[in-house]
Amino acid sequence: MAGTDPTRLPPDTVTGAPAPLIVLSHPQLAENVGMVARAMLNCGLVDMRLVEPQEPHLEGRAIAAASGADVVLHRAEVFASTREAVADANWVLATTARRRGQVKPVMTPKHAAAEMRARIAAGQKVAVLFGRERTGLDNDEVSIADAVCEVPLNPAYCSLNLAQAVLLVGYEWFQAGSDAPPCEMVMNETLPAAKDEVLNFYAHLERELELCGFLRAEDKRPSMVRNIRSLFNRAQLTEQDVRTLHGMVAELAHGSLRRARKLGIPVDKLHAEPMPLYTSAPIFDSAFADKLTELFVWRRDVRRFTAEPVTETAVTELLEQACLAPSVGNSQPWRFVLVEDTARRAAVRAAFAAANAEALAGYSGEKAQLYASLKLAGLDRAPVQIAVFADPDPAEGHGLGRRTMPQTLQYSVVAAIQNLWLAARARGLGLGMISIVDPAEVRRVCEVPEAWDLVAYLCLGHPEEEHADPELVRAGWQDRIPMDRVVFRR
Ligand SMILES: Cc1cc2nc3c(=O)[nH]c(=O)nc-3n(C[C@H](O)[C@H](O)[C@H](O)COP(=O)(O)O)c2cc1C
Repeated sequence: MAGTDPTRLPPDTVTGAPAPLIVLSHPQLAENVGMVARAMLNCGLVDMRLVEPQEPHLEGRAIAAASGADVVLHRAEVFASTREAVADANWVLATTARRRGQVKPVMTPKHAAAEMRARIAAGQKVAVLFGRERTGLDNDEVSIADAVCEVPLNPAYCSLNLAQAVLLVGYEWFQAGSDAPPCEMVMNETLPAAKDEVLNFYAHLERELELCGFLRAEDKRPSMVRNIRSLFNRAQLTEQDVRTLHGMVAELAHGSLRRARKLGIPVDKLHAEPMPLYTSAPIFDSAFADKLTELFVWRRDVRRFTAEPVTETAVTELLEQACLAPSVGNSQPWRFVLVEDTARRAAVRAAFAAANAEALAGYSGEKAQLYASLKLAGLDRAPVQIAVFADPDPAEGHGLGRRTMPQTLQYSVVAAIQNLWLAARARGLGLGMISIVDPAEVRRVCEVPEAWDLVAYLCLGHPEEEHADPELVRAGWQDRIPMDRVVFRR
């Protein structure tokens, strides 16, 4: 039957722990007895006593009405009188719909439940008496009882059928012993998201709200951010919710642009405000210049990333910004390989581990110890990995500028990487540059022409932490050096 789990019978049923006896006096219909059995088992009650039932309690209609609770019917005992049925009970409760003028405590089912729990806990046997369907208990039966139970219902209409009456008393009995919390959030398999996952999502959302201009009113920003956060806090996000929300925000922010690119729709057609066409030179005011300095100060080589993915659109846009870099003869020799395949990533990771171990062997003493403690790559978590190569002989640029200094091709690629680095930081992403790898191995893993030079292997993602100083300074490896050591006049 729906809602039934036979492995989860109530503790009283399983352990045989004492519970009230339900005594039905002269029940008329087999169906009603079956329905009482069902109501009893709902409430963990299994001891039914029948006083002169008018139909056999194991007859087909009773079993059908019990709807799977026939165990109660099979255990039921039949007595010739009410007095015999309650003979071994220490306390008897009579259920009535109307006052009988007898001096007795009259209690609600809730109060009766507490009383029964206390008495049973003290070792007493308790019986609850229910009368025949049409007329209820007679006065003699009520007189046997120690207390009367009345269900507070609409005084103008309080007629209950037998099983309903048993259910109301049984329900209160069960509740009084149940440790079910009054309200509980059912999470199924998922956990509430950890606070730092939720905070990462807030950072993602707020960054995009900032970029799209929703948070442009500086003075209102703090309170708007607090309101948005408390809105999501009220939802008690699960881990899955947080993943879905990350995806939604990312798609809202960049999905329309990506689709437009795929479908060849001009991007400015997508926006009420057309995208700038860059036809006239912009004015970079002092506020921008200050921000730019901040960008230089806060750009970092990042080796620790969160699990938050980077959208495809963000990667495309960053690569477009990288390609705006200067290059010798405008040769644009940069070649970017997005390394997505798990096995290839693992091979790069192994190449890094080997090169790093070799590099460590080149140090000794304290320097070796310090080197070993440094984290020099974020390959384990970075969601985006890019191998950047220089084409040593691009047709573009027609050789201009590189006859005497062929390495300017690689310098040009470094300039593109620097663009990428700063552009990533400007949108809250972090970039880590790795050179501790065998370039031939990375070339092999990436299946690119033999002649291409590896310039760097990049890790891109959301940084776990933000710093205004390099990690190698903080780790005590190398301080920044003063300007007079690097600037000369002749
Ligand atoms: C050409 C180049 C190669 C680098 N290779 C690595 C590397 O293999 N592993 C690493 O952790 N950092 C590498 N870095 C990052 C530097 O350690 C980092 O830029 C420097 O410590 C200054 O820190 P900052 O970038 O946070 O200012 C490299 C940087 C450059 C420019």
